[in-house]
Amino acid sequence: MTYAPAAKEQPVSDGPRHVAIIMDGNGRWAQARGRPRLFGHHAGARRVREIVEACPGLGVDYLTIFAFSTENWKRTQTEVAGLMSLFRRYIMKEMQEFVRYNVRVRFIGDRLRLEVKLRALMDEAEAMTRDCSGLNLTIAINYGGRDEVARATKRLAVDVAEGRLKPEDVDLETLPRYLDTCVLPDPDLVIRTSGEARISNFLLWQSAYAEYEFIDTLWPDFSARIFSEVLMQYGARERRFGTVRA
Ligand code: FPP
Repeated sequence: MTYAPAAKEQPVSDGPRHVAIIMDGNGRWAQARGRPRLFGHHAGARRVREIVEACPGLGVDYLTIFAFSTENWKRTQTEVAGLMSLFRRYIMKEMQEFVRYNVRVRFIGDRLRLEVKLRALMDEAEAMTRDCSGLNLTIAINYGGRDEVARATKRLAVDVAEGRLKPEDVDLETLPRYLDTCVLPDPDLVIRTSGEARISNFLLWQSAYAEYEFIDTLWPDFSARIFSEVLMQYGARERRFGTVRA
């Protein structure tokens, strides 16, 4: 893995600083080839590599990817176990490369339900890349936007109950400090692949003013070139955040 800017890509002027991606379509991609769903997830992991590598050259400072949702536990035991094993192998394999190429890795989601070995690797990757100042890569595992808000509210309620926070001080600035994403800026652009036009519980609070792009391409076919085209289209949009045109 090189994480070097791809030579042909240029930073997109007025491009998004934080891009979040719902990587959908691995199963259909595999099915179209007569292969098991996990085959698609492995191909999807290779695309993660390519997109991470493309970010610095395209001016993207934050990349947040949806790897496993709180709802994905409903899939077959084989698929869930295969995905967990893929995450372990991915982190183990990429950890040194992240450091070498200055990628800071974070994980969001509820870790308590994850197996101990995976959690230990997540902690290790975060600790090892703590001083990296290049791309901020955030991987959402066992993440759900509603679950995140519920967990945040619980922590906030404890602070109120124990006198660290006054109820009248709870406002739009306070609540996000309790979210898993407290150190990240809000996403500017959310991309979903595979032709589905829904957000599936991803970054519900954080994406209130994000732009959305729903792309027909299945995730394992989503290349750095398509990514850079999507970013160019974003550059042409006018974001008004509720105000009127100047
Ligand atoms: C959705 O496609 C995809 C997932 C639930 C898993 C996403 C995981 C990866 C891209 C693998 C690697 C990730 C990392 C961080 C190593 P789907 O299976 O729901 O596709 P379908 O809608 O076609 O069935």
